[in-house]
Amino acid sequence: EQIEKGGYEHFMLKEIYEQPSAISDTYRGRMLPDQGIIRMAGVDDNIERISNARRILIVACGTSWHAGLVAEYIFEDLARIPVEVEYASEFRYRNPIISENDVVIAISQSGETADTMAAIKLAKEKGAFVFGVCNVVGSSISRETHAGAYTHAGPEIGVASTKAFTTQITVLTLMALKLAKHKGTISNSDFRFHLQELERIPEKVKEALNSDEHIRGIADIYKNATNCLYLGRGFNFPVALEGALKLKEISYIHAEGYPAAEMKHGPIALIDEQMPVVVIATKKGHYEKVVSNIQEIKSRKGKIIAVVTHGDTEVRELADHVIEVPETMESLTPLLTTIPLQLLSYHIAVMLGKNVDQPRNLAKSVTVE
Ligand code: G6P
Repeated sequence: EQIEKGGYEHFMLKEIYEQPSAISDTYRGRMLPDQGIIRMAGVDDNIERISNARRILIVACGTSWHAGLVAEYIFEDLARIPVEVEYASEFRYRNPIISENDVVIAISQSGETADTMAAIKLAKEKGAFVFGVCNVVGSSISRETHAGAYTHAGPEIGVASTKAFTTQITVLTLMALKLAKHKGTISNSDFRFHLQELERIPEKVKEALNSDEHIRGIADIYKNATNCLYLGRGFNFPVALEGALKLKEISYIHAEGYPAAEMKHGPIALIDEQMPVVVIATKKGHYEKVVSNIQEIKSRKGKIIAVVTHGDTEVRELADHVIEVPETMESLTPLLTTIPLQLLSYHIAVMLGKNVDQPRNLAKSVTVE
């Protein structure tokens, strides 16, 4: 097992550090930025069916559901196709309205999640076209779907999903870009620019990983917190949900993710000097609005841990701690802002002596309802 961990203390840490190569493995062979081409067999072979979808329904569970939420923002923004994201477990039991003009995207790292599988079967019965995004090659979901794209992240052993999440977002970004190009909802220059930026993401993830020691220091300060709030907006709202989930899963600290602007409708009541609030406040992405949310937290004496764009000065003045990530285009920021949140949870869990790779009560793949 020590050999499999490749010198890392835990599989989770190894998998966090594998993200630069996992992301490039995901897009390698699929995109040619210089020529402005994306090739994805599962999409190419069904391009009319998918791009003419009346709407896209995304079904998934857990972290994969969060990747689906990021994809909702990306698909709607780039390809202008309406998207709904559903927990597979809810979708299957609520007599959903599905037609032959719908495209269902099922996202699953393991490709074995029972609820997601059941949702796929239901969607197929109703005549929808079902596209799978799985990591495990040959898994049940990859066989049950009409077409699909693998994430090629390599085996993920840690129960808390890390590289599966960022590679799912990568695949879904490629798919959205491909559809946008086909539909003409993106200009050629914008399309190329997206590809060039995506190609730079692995390097930028490496830079984000350089904050590891700094994040460990922050973890040491907050490891005894009993609650933690995570806030983000737009593309980074699902990242806030995912950050909170990671903390809950492996450190057993209660954490909640919220859209930053919704804070005033409830969670703000929780804020006092004991409450760490992790805020994703990268440039672009409603930056000024998030800054005012940070001011609201500060005036209630909450402790602010902000994830900011490299070189930021405004949030630095307000926050107790800042963690920098490199600049990129807004839709790609989740691939970077996720990294420090993974590391923060990891270090807190290790400091608390928890079983990081196999947290209590959780399973890597949930094959029962
Ligand atoms: C379990 C795992 C999570 C995962 C979820 C969905 O709860 O512990 O990490 O996100 O299942 O799994 P899937 O394999 O369908 O992505």
